[in-house]
Amino acid sequence: MAIAERALEFVKDGDVVGLGTGRAASAFVRALGARVRAGLRIRGIPTSQVTKALAQELSIPLTTFDAVETIDIAVDGADEVDPDRNLIKGYGGAMVREKIVAAAAQKFIVLVGTEKLVSALGERGRLPVEVVPFGVAACCRRLRALSCEPTSRQTESGAFVSDNGNAIIDCAIGPIARPAEFEQHVLSIPGVVGTGLFVGMDPTVLVQDGEAVRILH
Ligand code: A5P
Repeated sequence: MAIAERALEFVKDGDVVGLGTGRAASAFVRALGARVRAGLRIRGIPTSQVTKALAQELSIPLTTFDAVETIDIAVDGADEVDPDRNLIKGYGGAMVREKIVAAAAQKFIVLVGTEKLVSALGERGRLPVEVVPFGVAACCRRLRALSCEPTSRQTESGAFVSDNGNAIIDCAIGPIARPAEFEQHVLSIPGVVGTGLFVGMDPTVLVQDGEAVRILH
């Protein structure tokens, strides 16, 4: 994937690198692994168990927030990007760790295709919300009152469980007029751990547009 290679240009020797989750982020982790094999010295902080396993398979050295205070660069995918570069993330269920990593990063790079570009967040119809298991039913009622029709995410073997041991509620939504305000309403529900809204985080967005890579600053 060309944007994964392009993202490598932002990584410097010695960096602590936040490793996102999903297809675009995995392509980046694979490209980074090749660079590490060629001698690049970095340490990664993975945003999920899946990404951690991939990084270990590629022999990428890993670290944790116990050992480092800041991250030089975080690279991740997204599910929606609006014209102000606000995001919806979490279709893969990793958004809570992804936001912790992105918020600690000096530079946040997002890798998407043109299908993820929207004129208003919510256009693709889904906002993931992470909720502690005890509060699922109560949170669903409160989300309904915010006009979000909630569905508890399932897998073939039962309820989806995040790496934090929580449930993911997928809220059916339409375009969100004021995403920052809306997120505060959702976060004020007791039991909500985090949402897929990434507002005002000022990412650099690399867009794979056919053969070309566009950069949105
Ligand atoms: C994981 O929870 C997500 O935030 C992903 O980063 C997002 O869903 C984008 O994934 P893809 O690159 O697989 O589309």
